[in-house]
Amino acid sequence: MSERLAAAFRQFATRECPDDPLYVALCLLVADQPALAAGLSAAPPEQRRPNLWLAAVQDRLLELGGSHPLAAYYPSLGGGRAPDPALAATVADFVANEGAALDDMMRTRSTQTNEIGRCAVLYLMLLELARRFPGRPLALLDVGTSAGLNLGVDTYRYDYGGAMAAAPAAPGVPVIACDPVGLLPLPLGGTFTLAHRLGIDPSPVDIHDERAVRWLRACLWPHDRARARRFDDAVALARTHRWPVRREADCTAALEPWVDSLPDGVLPVVFNSWVLAYFSADALRHHVDTLTGLVARRGVAWLSAEAPGVGVSAPGRPPLTPGSSAWTLVSRHADGVRTECVAWSHPHGRHLEWRAPR
Ligand SMILES: C[S@@+](CC[C@H](N)C(=O)[O-])C[C@H]1O[C@@H](n2cnc3c(N)ncnc32)[C@H](O)[C@@H]1O
Repeated sequence: MSERLAAAFRQFATRECPDDPLYVALCLLVADQPALAAGLSAAPPEQRRPNLWLAAVQDRLLELGGSHPLAAYYPSLGGGRAPDPALAATVADFVANEGAALDDMMRTRSTQTNEIGRCAVLYLMLLELARRFPGRPLALLDVGTSAGLNLGVDTYRYDYGGAMAAAPAAPGVPVIACDPVGLLPLPLGGTFTLAHRLGIDPSPVDIHDERAVRWLRACLWPHDRARARRFDDAVALARTHRWPVRREADCTAALEPWVDSLPDGVLPVVFNSWVLAYFSADALRHHVDTLTGLVARRGVAWLSAEAPGVGVSAPGRPPLTPGSSAWTLVSRHADGVRTECVAWSHPHGRHLEWRAPR
């Protein structure tokens, strides 16, 4: 176990968080002394990952409010100390004192995200759907919604390389920067009406539960203050708007009843972002078949944002930026069901390559 753990932490430092000096230093420390993260062995096998330990440590520090010297290294706690030789003893002391709390989190929690950066692409997709299906208000079902923050897609402000869109600038309105890559113009003209919205998830995060929200915050990298501010603003907005989020043990079974519940004339848009990798192979096949059937029979527009090849994919040119994720639209047209790659984007929406013909 300890050798595997050491290798996982070493790999995490180089592949997953090379831009975060504290996380690199912490991962290399654990790689040298795997006993620091021994509690990971009590986590469910699929959760025995360095980011679970990193999140547990940050969560406990957030709870303690900066009282342990380790907090001085965390920008998320107001600390500005760069990793230095004293870090090793400080971490060891923290783990020795807080081991029980850390182990408890690693046993019971899983790493979670709800990334509103993805809304920069979702917003354009909804504009595009409104353009393709004129006169039809949109109904949005966010499958695997987490805390439901992406339901607020029309309440955020977007900066597409200087071209601003959506909500006007105001205090508390998150501004999401997304750099366009490539030549095609973005579909910034027009507007859409979001007549209905609902998020479903087998394990939704209750944004009114401070403990649950702190865990989501603890899963963010501590140096990315802009992302954390954006997250806090989105939580505050969601608390005001109270977007409907529902626990559904079987999200696939919930799809058609949702379509049935909609008034005539709306365009049902089923959306998933970074969700389908969590399905088992059989469940995913069933989900894809169910959704494809709903596109053909009920005119649903299915928008899927996932790592390439996960769930549904369309042929076409690879992205200009390696590592991009695919935004695939499955929709019904006069000539049948069409599956197309509409965009490639950074997994958190930092850049996007628009692909739909204009
Ligand atoms: C990486 S998070 C993505 C959350 C959100 N869609 C986003 O883009 O920020 C994955 C989400 O998928 C949910 N999930 C896991 N298994 C699922 C399933 N079988 N059906 C629907 N959602 C699922 C998790 O509970 C979690 O909220």
